[in-house]
Amino acid sequence: MMRPAAGTPVSRVDGRLKVTGQAAYAAEHDAHDAVRGAVHGVIVTSTVGKGRITAIDTRAATALPGVLAVISHANAPKLPYRPFRRVTDPPRGEHLRVFQDDRVRFFGQPVAVAVAETLEAAQHAASLVKVTYAAERPATGLDAPAGSPNEPENYQRGDVDQALRQARTRIEQTYRLQREHHNPMEPHATIARWDGDRLTVWDKTQVVLNTRAALASVFGIAEDAVRVVSPFVGGAFGSALRAWPHVTIAALAARQVRRPVKVVLTREQLYTGTGFRPVTEYKLTLGADERGRLTAAVHDIRAETSAYEDYRESLLTQGQMVYTTPNVRQTYRSIPLDINTPTWMRGPGAATAAYAIECAMDELAHETGIDPIELRLRNEPERDPGTGAPFSTRRLRECLRTGARTVGWDDRAPEPRSTRDGDWLLGMGMAVATYHTARAPAQALARLHADGTATVQSATSDMGPGTYTSMTQVAADALGLPVSRVRFQLGDSAMPPAPPHGGSMTMASVGSAVADTCDKLRRQAVRLAIADPGSPLHGASAGDVVVQNGRLSLRDDPGRGETYQQLLARTGRPRLEARGGYTPGEETERYSTHAYGAVFAQVAVDERLGLVRVRRVLGVYDAGRIINPKLAHSQAIGGLVGGIGMALLEHTVTDPRDGRVVNANLADYLVPTNADVPDVNAVYLDGEDREAGPLGVKGLGEVVIVGVAPAIANAVFHATGRRVRDLPITLEALL
Ligand code: MOS
Repeated sequence: MMRPAAGTPVSRVDGRLKVTGQAAYAAEHDAHDAVRGAVHGVIVTSTVGKGRITAIDTRAATALPGVLAVISHANAPKLPYRPFRRVTDPPRGEHLRVFQDDRVRFFGQPVAVAVAETLEAAQHAASLVKVTYAAERPATGLDAPAGSPNEPENYQRGDVDQALRQARTRIEQTYRLQREHHNPMEPHATIARWDGDRLTVWDKTQVVLNTRAALASVFGIAEDAVRVVSPFVGGAFGSALRAWPHVTIAALAARQVRRPVKVVLTREQLYTGTGFRPVTEYKLTLGADERGRLTAAVHDIRAETSAYEDYRESLLTQGQMVYTTPNVRQTYRSIPLDINTPTWMRGPGAATAAYAIECAMDELAHETGIDPIELRLRNEPERDPGTGAPFSTRRLRECLRTGARTVGWDDRAPEPRSTRDGDWLLGMGMAVATYHTARAPAQALARLHADGTATVQSATSDMGPGTYTSMTQVAADALGLPVSRVRFQLGDSAMPPAPPHGGSMTMASVGSAVADTCDKLRRQAVRLAIADPGSPLHGASAGDVVVQNGRLSLRDDPGRGETYQQLLARTGRPRLEARGGYTPGEETERYSTHAYGAVFAQVAVDERLGLVRVRRVLGVYDAGRIINPKLAHSQAIGGLVGGIGMALLEHTVTDPRDGRVVNANLADYLVPTNADVPDVNAVYLDGEDREAGPLGVKGLGEVVIVGVAPAIANAVFHATGRRVRDLPITLEALL
């Protein structure tokens, strides 16, 4: 019997290409024939936070040898910017229109691009562009005078005010999260080439179809006239879910100079050229009865957005469904500021909400003297308290108990500041993680070739989770082939459509489409065999034929059969081909489906220096079925490390006078390095969620960052008795 590939720790099928440098990332495609001879565009960005451009002097820049053009609002063509709503709906508002007027909306806005034969010439030219501004003072902080909120998003159930009056215990606190940037290793980059009216771009993107739709809209051309290619993405975490201004700039410049143009954002430009996790202020009031059961919760949230787009994220879901709470009121206001637009970043909304909710639960546990895990168990709902729907699966109790056992939670001395190791105060904290299971329509195409191999494709992406590999596993099982004989292809808008590679929905959506497509292809081969008088399977009934290791045979008489190669050769076909897909059904409405986790952190805090050292992080997850345990573990380690960064290090600092990001580099924007990362581990509960979709998976890319920061903050409180409510937790706050 052939062992199914799904469920086994297959190593990345693209690993060799990546470690040998053969995988082409966005900025590298001009090394290949398709775009050899691309010239270089270097973006000039605004050095004021708001105002108007009064003059642009490009004479010195254009006089340099090798310079082909300097494009700005002064000479750029008017672009149609047709409205569009697409695969990743952009926030409400008006896109930043590249080089269409003299207005400066934020510090770091693109104001010109220098295009030259070499990168050096383009950089030199960009440095010689003289821009003069009439500057105004921008509003850049949540409490800036100009920052009057957008229309709030509200939610209400029950009578919160009465419940709070009757509550035995009340916790009322404000939690603040700073701006965080994705900082993927690979910078955002685009190469654009026009062939007449047809545009091809090689782009760093999580959604080729989104980039295609955006470019079609900007240039007022048909989507069919645009092709977007993005086979490899060197990390993104949400930053590549939208097509940012530089994508348009590359295409615009290529049209102007009639050459392929490559634009690569510098590390510094990434901080204003793409989005970020927004500054959020989360005021939370909890009311509980004498047994610690939540009776009321009031969530009052404010978060930054740009003045031109109203970015929102799923900040309210968790507060509605995570604990039994009869009375809930939520208000979420975005505050328009003179900044560039924030965007989705790993665990968008959920990671932020969990910080407030899980820290407040820890405060409630401390206040009531109830063990933090016991407090969660007492508030565990039987049905989704927000929608009333049954949970498809919710194994949070098991996550909590498994984690508690593994870390020795019951041996923890509950009193804060009661355990030490020399100068180090030791603490252990925990938090709950949830992330909704999103699913969206997806399609795939599969081909079985005469040599007995198969290729399968869908216009999805692989920003690092291992989509190439997991899809290969699913396809191999459905086709009855070993993984080594299946190639999965992605990252090309010419392939069958897929939803955004984000929101932890790729496995459930694209995976289900791949399974359906490959099932169809296998059945087609079986039908061909049993209808063919030349086949040993002629006349068999389809249900009795199995395919294993590329050979079709009778289940009860394995000697009777033939291989895919034999079948195709004899019937004279170069290949068989099938298209299939997946559309989420009514189960997505009927059930409340979320991935869950319990996160445990152990920290040591130097009593005299305030230094926090994370000693251990463990996440225990209920994410449904795990297609590839090795990749799932890798995803969790990445999420847990991201959570350490969120808790202790990451903070995009802006100058309130002009909105300039003052630490726009990887030396001053701190991310966890090996020395910051201790024993991190993740455990996935065995099982599957039959209502989540055909594959039984609930998604795991986001849930693994949710809950990490509050688990660490709660551990810091347990170690020190000091409650720090503002992220990141710095040593200054602990001194
Ligand atoms: Mo993730 S924020 O959905 O890329």
